[in-house]
Amino acid sequence: MHIMSIALGGCIRGEPVPYGITEDTGGHITYILGQMRALARHPGVHCAEIVTRLFDEPELGAIHARSVEELEPGCLLTRIDSGNRRYLAKDDLRVDRTDFIEALLAELGERERLPDLIHAHFADAADVAAHVQRAFGIPYIYTAHSLGMDKLDGVGEPCDALEARIEEEDRAIAGAIAVIGSSRDECERQLPAYPSTRMDKVHRIIPGVSVIPPHANQIQQAQRLIDPFLRDPDKPIILAVARAVRKKNLAALIEAFAPIRKKANLVILAGQRCASNEGEDEQVEVVTDLLHLIDRHNLYGSVAYPKKHSSEEVAGLYALAARSRGVFVNPALVEPYGLTILEAAAYGLPVVATKVGGPVDTVGELGHGLLVDPRSPSDIGVAIERLLDDNALWSECAANGANNSRETNWARYADNFVKLARRTLDTSVGVNCRAGPGTTHLFVSDLDNTITGCTDGIERLRAFLHDNPNFAFVIATGRSLVEARRIMREWDVPEPVAWVTSVGSEIYWNSGTGCVRDQNFPALSKVQWEPEAVDAIMAGFPNIQPQPGYEQRSFKRSYFFSTQEEVSEIRSALRMADLPVRVIASHDRLLDILPASAGKAAAMRHVASVLRIAPEKIFAAGDSGNDEDMLIECRNAIIVENHSAEIKKLTSRSNVYLARNAHAAGVIEGIEAMTRDGLSAGVAMSGARG
Ligand code: GLC
Ligand code: MG
Repeated sequence: MHIMSIALGGCIRGEPVPYGITEDTGGHITYILGQMRALARHPGVHCAEIVTRLFDEPELGAIHARSVEELEPGCLLTRIDSGNRRYLAKDDLRVDRTDFIEALLAELGERERLPDLIHAHFADAADVAAHVQRAFGIPYIYTAHSLGMDKLDGVGEPCDALEARIEEEDRAIAGAIAVIGSSRDECERQLPAYPSTRMDKVHRIIPGVSVIPPHANQIQQAQRLIDPFLRDPDKPIILAVARAVRKKNLAALIEAFAPIRKKANLVILAGQRCASNEGEDEQVEVVTDLLHLIDRHNLYGSVAYPKKHSSEEVAGLYALAARSRGVFVNPALVEPYGLTILEAAAYGLPVVATKVGGPVDTVGELGHGLLVDPRSPSDIGVAIERLLDDNALWSECAANGANNSRETNWARYADNFVKLARRTLDTSVGVNCRAGPGTTHLFVSDLDNTITGCTDGIERLRAFLHDNPNFAFVIATGRSLVEARRIMREWDVPEPVAWVTSVGSEIYWNSGTGCVRDQNFPALSKVQWEPEAVDAIMAGFPNIQPQPGYEQRSFKRSYFFSTQEEVSEIRSALRMADLPVRVIASHDRLLDILPASAGKAAAMRHVASVLRIAPEKIFAAGDSGNDEDMLIECRNAIIVENHSAEIKKLTSRSNVYLARNAHAAGVIEGIEAMTRDGLSAGVAMSGARG
């Protein structure tokens, strides 16, 4: 496969990239380089090509006037000359867009072999990609990196420009064959706000983080960078790395730091500059503000703000901050993803991060820090202080970050990208992912820990489904559709006939090319669902934290609990209020409230009735509390060996097969055993294959 990434903004080049040299030379370049280098190394990709503007501005680097730069074997950077050889900042890029498109189309027209797929970064590149698609029929995938809709509540851009941007983003979404986002917030809150978003086209692929443990001399280099500013350089380092733009909210960090200056030093890397009054307007204003604040709070000797830095020095600083038992802070007013949060994790540096945007799930998934309200300097300060003062908490966050970020690498991203690309380019339907007249049996399975956890078992499951095309395979999970599909892609779980998601409160049918929501489930005529009433009752339990916003779905409210007593109290409060709901506790921590007519059992029944499958021909597998209703109701239920304590009580039921094996191996063991015992007829045994 030949993949072409198009990105127009910033100074894109092979390393070392002078991050911050212009306002637009930021994190998206790390993304594109990391992505394309990893794709070039993927056996399924023979060429990973980045296309950007050519410009001739020696002070930004002579290399930007070169039309081809080879980054590594199979990884190229092609610069297209639009005729305008000035560097153009993000908002001026439209000036030469038409000429750029024409030049690119001409260049492609001369090629013997065209790319198979385009990946457009930002909406302007998607516009370019749409022209290429029209001319040559090459489809494009769109990654927004940062969406305008989220800025509507005033981060300062003029309104007309913002509206035009949002419209352009919507067009980008409409024309793409797939949209890739990095965070759950982006995929499940920001993107659905656009009229053209179709959820079955939205996919989450977690970007990588490239961390090479810094050399001792890199750490010394970093030390030399900040020493001139600091009176006591041995104090813990509070580190921030962000471009000098207003939305990064660095001023709030200085306000937060002022009261705790005795405990730590503050190091701010806010882009590259020659002098505080030189550079782009916003940068000059932001830097001037920072200098004033340092002055106002008399923070001399406690704040370092080097005006230039290399990527080696940044790496050295992360390591130095970790070694000083410091904290990384990202106080952005809104942070679409926040690659720095992930970088900090990889260096074992705990974080204090904005709770607006991507960090909610990065920090939630890695468990390496605290989330704060970016508009409250005191909130930021308190969180930093907690990490500085609480040794045990600091160590736990540091260890979580280092351990849990290891899986987050670009090779894994590339793997998932190629799987997604193949699936979207090849619209031929996978093995029995659509039920037909020959469908006689239904197999409904939970995903996490029931299937995931055993690749070998998953392969056997695939073989079983291949040999038994009369079996309709359905996934029933607590996760949302986007997350379920992400996990299934990562684990190579076979394509299902349908996805039962959000704990059995939504059903999507596989159309072969996408997923279509089942509008008849839960049946609106039967469902009595008053989410506001549920919210009102839950407000009486101040210790029960709601799960993030994107977990609150049209027929599901989700929380975190800590004790069984809490769950009982919640159950009785809801009963007293006469609300017809189902309360589901799982993993000693997760609490879901659904309409009584929803849940995995109800969803299983609905799918079976649509497919006209009799109850004795239904199999179901699960491992935890949110599978309970389904496992009780299903006549052929399988509980995997690694089940949680909360469903132990079900294992002795006569309809339940308790597997000796864990995860997917337990599932396949269960199906084989139950079908062998003659519980149902007409089943081929995967073990008996020739
Ligand atoms: C999934 C959902 C979460 C739910 C849990 C248990 O993790 O994302 O909201 O609480 O399943 O059902
Ligand atoms: Mg599970």
